[in-house]
Amino acid sequence: MKKINQTLILLTAALLLAGCNQAKKEIVKKELFGTYKGGEVYLLTLTNKAGNVLKLTNFGARITWLEVPDKDGKKDNITFGFDTFDGMIAGDRYYGAVVGRYANRIAKGKFTLDGVEYSLPINNGPNSLHGGPEGWHSVAWNTEIPEKTEYPTVRFTYKSPDMEAGYPGNMNVEATYTWTDNNEIIIDYALTTDKKTVFNITNHAYFNLHGAGNGDILDHQLVIKASKFVPVDTFLIPTGEMRPVAGSPFDFTTPHTVGERIGEAYDQLIYGGGYDHTFIFDNAEEVDAAVYEPVSGRFMEVISDQPGVQFYCGNFLNGTMIGHGGKPYVYRSGLCLETGHYPDSPNHPEFPSTVLNPGDTFKSRTIYRFSVK
Ligand code: BGC
Repeated sequence: MKKINQTLILLTAALLLAGCNQAKKEIVKKELFGTYKGGEVYLLTLTNKAGNVLKLTNFGARITWLEVPDKDGKKDNITFGFDTFDGMIAGDRYYGAVVGRYANRIAKGKFTLDGVEYSLPINNGPNSLHGGPEGWHSVAWNTEIPEKTEYPTVRFTYKSPDMEAGYPGNMNVEATYTWTDNNEIIIDYALTTDKKTVFNITNHAYFNLHGAGNGDILDHQLVIKASKFVPVDTFLIPTGEMRPVAGSPFDFTTPHTVGERIGEAYDQLIYGGGYDHTFIFDNAEEVDAAVYEPVSGRFMEVISDQPGVQFYCGNFLNGTMIGHGGKPYVYRSGLCLETGHYPDSPNHPEFPSTVLNPGDTFKSRTIYRFSVK
């Protein structure tokens, strides 16, 4: 009898352990999503203890699905993406991706470092945008699932070769995503180089708190803790001014809906076709930006140690991109809060420096936190 009991206890323990391992494994599920230039592309499904799901892919180290509840507990995906890898390849290049080497624009695709002029691919009017057409958004990164982490975690790494898209230095890039039980996406970046270079790294996720593909974002209430922003010319290149937001439609230091002042005849709204500008964080508070959508009650907070954020409200979306579930992403149906340095900084010594030297590591963290109220 005693022996039977002992066997039973051992068996139960073994089963429990197997169950735990199974549960542990399941917090990050890795599936083949496609292949790109000979490299395997995976879909990674991260499920937190609240049962909410974040999907990533190593193609562009991108976020492709984020399912969180509304105030009644109804879940929906609130970020832009595609159901299939073929759809992703054919679709918008930047949805949810990590953008580099230089997120946003460099004027005329030229900058000078230590007396040497570098030329970059021109892919946006006369300028270079988002690291050129073959930037970090369009390569298959390596995928690691670190063990023994508190929350589901995926680390993407990429070796960007010297002179890739015209930029000097071999760079090692890391973007680590952690999906906490408190519904926070924590993105940790780490960059090193073996030659002096410039960089600007961001994540280009589009959000619609009604659910991706469910109407526009003009009713989203936005706060950006920024008393200045970066005005641009008609090609969206900074003029060098850092203009106070006070008294203008760029003042989001208190909540305003995106749509409230977007149609005003203000020079910068005309040049940008709406909001498509870097806001300079005051960095005085923990939360740097927040978005509230009153119908669903969804609330998103952005916390970052980067110097600013590109607030882009989907002015170039036109419904031709068909995303998850066959839904078209129409004009202004998604907003991006891309934390980072200011556009064209290598040509603006008055902006915070985007130079990275050998021996230094650039480390930065951005958190997107989701809740309801
Ligand atoms: C830029 C927009 C650009 C978009 C492309 C944003 O970061 O600010 O001007 O059209 O990226 O997806």
